[in-house]
Amino acid sequence: MLKIEEMKLRATLFLLLQLIFELSSCTHLRVIPGSTLELPCLSFQTDFDETSITWKFNGEDIDAQSQSGSVRVKKDGSYLSISPVTAANEGGYACLVKSNKIELIRIYNITVDASIGYTIKVEEGSTVHLPCHFPRDSPVLANALWFKETDGGKRTKLNLEDDSAGDDKRLDLLYPFDYDQTMVLKDTTMEDTGIYYCESADGEKLSTVYIIVEVGPTTTPYSCTRFPTAWEPCQDENSRTGEPILQESMAEFSMNLYSYIRESYPSSNVLFSPISISGLLSHLLLGARDHTRKAIERAVCVPHDFHCVHFQMKKLREKLASSLQMASQIYYSPQMNLSESFINQSIEFYEVEPTRLLENSTENTQMINTWVANKTKNKIRHLVDFVSPSTQLMLLNAVSYSGQWMVKFEPKPKKGMFTKLNGDMVKVPLLHHQKYMAAMAYVVELKAQVARFALSGDSSLYILLPRSNKVTDLQQVEERMTDTAVLQMIEHMRTIPPQHIEVTLPQIKLDAQPDMNLLIKKLGLASLFEDANLCGLYTEERVVLDDARHRAFLTLNEQGVEAGSVTSVSFSRSFPAFTALRPFILLLWSDQAKVPLFIGRVTDP
Ligand SMILES: *[C@@H]1O[C@H](CO)[C@@H](O)[C@H](O)[C@H]1NC(C)=O
Ligand SMILES: *[C@@H]1O[C@H](CO)[C@@H](O)[C@H](O)[C@H]1NC(C)=O
Ligand SMILES: *[C@@H]1O[C@H](CO)[C@@H](O)[C@H](O)[C@H]1NC(C)=O
Ligand SMILES: *[C@@H]1O[C@H](CO)[C@@H](O)[C@H](O)[C@H]1NC(C)=O
Ligand SMILES: *[C@@H]1O[C@H](CO)[C@@H](O)[C@H](O)[C@H]1NC(C)=O
Repeated sequence: MLKIEEMKLRATLFLLLQLIFELSSCTHLRVIPGSTLELPCLSFQTDFDETSITWKFNGEDIDAQSQSGSVRVKKDGSYLSISPVTAANEGGYACLVKSNKIELIRIYNITVDASIGYTIKVEEGSTVHLPCHFPRDSPVLANALWFKETDGGKRTKLNLEDDSAGDDKRLDLLYPFDYDQTMVLKDTTMEDTGIYYCESADGEKLSTVYIIVEVGPTTTPYSCTRFPTAWEPCQDENSRTGEPILQESMAEFSMNLYSYIRESYPSSNVLFSPISISGLLSHLLLGARDHTRKAIERAVCVPHDFHCVHFQMKKLREKLASSLQMASQIYYSPQMNLSESFINQSIEFYEVEPTRLLENSTENTQMINTWVANKTKNKIRHLVDFVSPSTQLMLLNAVSYSGQWMVKFEPKPKKGMFTKLNGDMVKVPLLHHQKYMAAMAYVVELKAQVARFALSGDSSLYILLPRSNKVTDLQQVEERMTDTAVLQMIEHMRTIPPQHIEVTLPQIKLDAQPDMNLLIKKLGLASLFEDANLCGLYTEERVVLDDARHRAFLTLNEQGVEAGSVTSVSFSRSFPAFTALRPFILLLWSDQAKVPLFIGRVTDP
């Protein structure tokens, strides 16, 4: 006679067999990007003993603890939530149920339908952006192709490569050779109405956009009479909330900017100073009105009614004055007289008087490069190659940091092998110490080994080391670096007591000039180049931005502020090791001001 227990098991097994049959033919789902997907593991109640459920994506375990990122395991694994769905989520998902004697697998196959459609209505004569995006998981080797459907369903390839028209091209890619393949269509006419397709060079459909051009209202001539000339005063300079608002904005802005930078520079060395870029945009914000003001506020992540933004920026800059050598300036055309209130407030809040350009291009180029060299103590001597004689407005920013470690590294230079993303090895000078005092932890949320090194000037250097030198591991860390995750990481690392670790780093020297014009567009500020409202800066006629530059320079060599106890211990292996001889991400954080000074990535030291 069968025991009750056994009968129950048989019954369950029978049920399971049926289910497995039902489920093994895996479920195919097509979803559109941006949607939310919830995948149940079991669609029925079970009373399995000690059931454990794990989820896999394309064969790799999904971290059930992680509550950041778009893929989350919910209710002990009973379902998986993906929100928002992106092309990166495409693939096979498996749910594994393990109980004492039984294993069950349910498989989903998710296809993300990128051929999502957009309908955009525009007024005649305006500029429109047609969205199109490559999936993130493969490198961009060629630009996408754009087609327009003409009468009778015929498709015509649009010619975006033709440079003969110069800057007056009506059609152009916003960011050539980028994951973002958005097309710009300027001066729209009624004939532009129609359906546009974006496809990869091998015919993969990326997006469909339906453009409807409408007759616009008769446009009123440009006039600044409706707008106040000065920025409104900060009513409450002593408010306790001002500083945290700006810190929060800065963290959010920094991580947004990093996500745009990594999209444009997926595998090279990267360095930028979010705080100085935000400072420069905030300076321009002083003169921005109406839609341009809103757009800049959105870009730098400050609330719209935060009148004290400039006052808080001033306080922040004063705090950081000793740690950064920063040159930030607005240059303008010799044909313009900026409004007096803008000049006064620039001096008050940003401690600079915007500089009028000279009539001579060569002299302008020299003037700017000399100014940069002076302001950065000759660390950066070159920022512009040429200043166009028609320039109305330029935003320039150069920032350099030469920090010192609180504990010195061994003075004896050593060399070691650094493994690049493609597996190639390069010989690099090293910073090495057998028992350095630093905090170290594996940060699950970021999937990275993190070490925190104290620097002079109340700052810390965080080095985030992905699991391997593979580009996918680097991307995984970068994708998880949201402002929340980074702030949590910093909080967490502060609680970890420093310990003796054996540290090996390549000597850090980064000098980078990310394309600011491109970043400004990615920040949603393309209108600065086209139809800005800068009525607080200049009232006579419309001015637009011609050029923006940012250059960042960072060195950390073996010297430190305090002599470390460089003792030669022969049993060095008894200390845990932190070895960054493969691509890593660095974050230079001001502990005093609680803002990021620099963010960078080293893939080829
Ligand atoms: C998912 O479906 C696609 C298209 O039908 C197929 O090419 C792919 O091999 C399937 N993947 C899995 C894991 O079943
Ligand atoms: C700018 O100001 C100067 C001196 O105040 C004046 O001579 C010049 O005409 C002004 N230029 C314009 C374009 O208003
Ligand atoms: C700008 O500052 C100068 C000198 O302090 C002052 O005379 C002038 O009235 C100020 N102008 C405005 C518009 O605030
Ligand atoms: C511009 O300045 C340079 C150097 O001072 C000089 O050689 C050149 O002739 C000037 N050009 C014009 C058009 O004045
Ligand atoms: C920068 O310019 C100022 C004023 O002209 C001068 O006093 C200073 O020595 C210069 N600094 C450097 C590093 O050239």
